[in-house]
Amino acid sequence: MAGQPIPVIIDCDTGVDDALALLFAVRHPGLDVRAVTCVAGNTDVDGVVRNTLTVLETAGAGDIPVARGAERPLIEPARPASHVHGVDGMGDLGLPAPTRRPVDVDAVTLLRREILASPTPVTLIPTAPLTNIALLLRTYPEVVRNISRIVFMGGAVATGNATPVAEFNVWHDPEAAAVLLTAGVPITMYGLDVFQRVLVPAGDVERLRASSEPRVRLAGELLAHRPSAPDPDGDDPSGGLGDAGAVCAVVDPGGLTTALLPVEVSLAPGPTRGQTVVDRRARPGEAEIHHGEREQALVDVALDVDVERYVKLWLGAVEGS
Ligand code: BDR
Ligand code: CA
Repeated sequence: MAGQPIPVIIDCDTGVDDALALLFAVRHPGLDVRAVTCVAGNTDVDGVVRNTLTVLETAGAGDIPVARGAERPLIEPARPASHVHGVDGMGDLGLPAPTRRPVDVDAVTLLRREILASPTPVTLIPTAPLTNIALLLRTYPEVVRNISRIVFMGGAVATGNATPVAEFNVWHDPEAAAVLLTAGVPITMYGLDVFQRVLVPAGDVERLRASSEPRVRLAGELLAHRPSAPDPDGDDPSGGLGDAGAVCAVVDPGGLTTALLPVEVSLAPGPTRGQTVVDRRARPGEAEIHHGEREQALVDVALDVDVERYVKLWLGAVEGS
C-alpha cells in the first residue's frame, strides 16, 4: 500500500517550466503541496504571484496558500528572463487573470508557518532564485528541524545557461544559493546537466495541446512555448519539462543518479560569478595539500536521469483523470 503523501512546499518564479512543475505537483497523489511561495526570477514577483495563482486555478488545485516573496535578489537587481519565458513569464499565452488571491502574509512567514505546522518533516522544492529560502534560513533557523530535505533546481556541473558556467537560478542570486548550500539539511542539486535532458516527445505535446481539458491543454501550450532567443536546436518540436523534473525527483528519486560531492558557489565578481563549482576529483589536489581544505557543503548532485521514466511519470499525473 502506498504510504502517506510527502509534504512539500514549492518556491517558484512561474515561469513556463515552474508552471509544468505545479501542474504535476498538485495532481500527483504522492505529494501533499502545503504551500507555494513566489520570488522574483523569470518575471517580476507580482507577475510570478499572478501566474502561480492562474496555474493552480486551471489545475483545479485545492486551497493551497500562495505567498508573495522577495522582489529582488539579496544584492543584485532583478534580471527577468523575458526572452525565455515571455513578457508575462508564461509564454504570453494570454491567460486569464486568476480569481484566487495570495495570502496576506509574506513568503518567509508562510514558509515558517507551514514548515513548523507540518506533522511530518517537509521537503522544500525551490525551482527559482533562492532569495526566499536564504531569508527564511537566516530569519527563522529553527525551521531546519522540520525540513527533511531540499531538492532544488539550480546549478550545473558542466555548462551554464545564464553565463558559460552559471545556471540562471544560482546566477540570479548567488549569495542566496550559498546560504542554501550550508542549510545543514540534506540537499539534492537538480542542475542543468539533467534539467535540459527531460524532453516530452512532440507527439505527446500535440496530444496535450488538443485536449478538451483546460489544465492538460495549458500543459501542452507551455511545452510548445519557445524562447524568443535563437535556439541552437532549431525547431525541435519536443518540450522540456525543466523545473518539473525536480518535482519528479521527489516523487521518484530512483529515476535520478546522484553523487554526494562538495559544491561551492562562486561569489566573485567576473566571469565565474554564480557558478556551482562541483568537486569531482578522486583525490585531494595541490590546493588542499598546500593550503589546507576549504570548507564546502556536501550535496547530492544529479548526474544522470532516466528521461523516459520521468516523462511517463509526469504525463501520467497531468493527463490522469
Ligand atoms: C531555471 O531558470 C528558469 O528560467 C527556469 O524556470 C529554471 O528554474 C533554469 O536555469
Ligand atoms: Ca524556475
